[in-house]
Amino acid sequence: MTQRIPVWDIPTRVFHWSLALSFTGAYVTGESERWALVHVTCGYTLLGLIVFRLVWGVAGTRYARFSEFVSGPSSVIRYISGLIQGTPTRYVGHNPAGALAILALLLLGLVSAVSGWMVYGDVDGDWLEKLHEVVSSLMLAIVFVHIAGVLISCRLHGENLVKSMLDGRKQGEENQAITALRPIVALFVLASLIGFWVWSFSDTLKITKAADSVMTAEDKMTKP
Ligand code: HEM
Repeated sequence: MTQRIPVWDIPTRVFHWSLALSFTGAYVTGESERWALVHVTCGYTLLGLIVFRLVWGVAGTRYARFSEFVSGPSSVIRYISGLIQGTPTRYVGHNPAGALAILALLLLGLVSAVSGWMVYGDVDGDWLEKLHEVVSSLMLAIVFVHIAGVLISCRLHGENLVKSMLDGRKQGEENQAITALRPIVALFVLASLIGFWVWSFSDTLKITKAADSVMTAEDKMTKP
């Protein structure tokens, strides 16, 4: 008998929604000088998250491991032909087509963040800037494919996968459940993210505060 069992550990969920936020933040601020610090901070966040996910793909719980969801082209073709015939195989973890999009997102995210870092560090070459732009746009396209794939899977299998990425649970047999949610690792990831953002903006806050107190002092001097 199937029931809602834990499938996604907490670090995987924290990773997912932080990645989605940092990618969106980096993408929407990419063209603006005013928001450059937010853009760069989102980019470094994305890089840190992907490095974490590469480690978690080896050290994480069952369905977070690459060995569980990375498969050869034949499984992807089999899954897609099942999809076309209207009889897709249901997976408790990632399905082979979804896994392919996930790997592409991780790889493109890595290239996008490292090329952005190099552009920001004034490494020479227009090609780097071009690469950064092209890879980021490609990533956006795959994000749309990913979201469309998730929505199609929700419909085909009659389950809410977005809710699963929030509460970590999916329909399955009791013996398919993960046995640990790893909250301490998730706390460490969250604390690192918050610490990094506070550190990144601390200089800007100090400058803004200093400018505010100079303006207040000037105001006092000019008023009778
Ligand atoms: C509102 C937007 C999004 C929704 C609703 C969404 C939803 C989901 C869902 C339901 C899964 C699990 C799929 C499964 O059951 O096999 C997933 C996995 C994933 N998504 Fe998204 N996603 C969104 C945005 C993004 C964005 C913007 C990115 C990347 C920039 C992204 C990257 C990933 C990755 C890497 C995974 C694999 C998670 C892991 O195993 O670590 N998602 N997403």
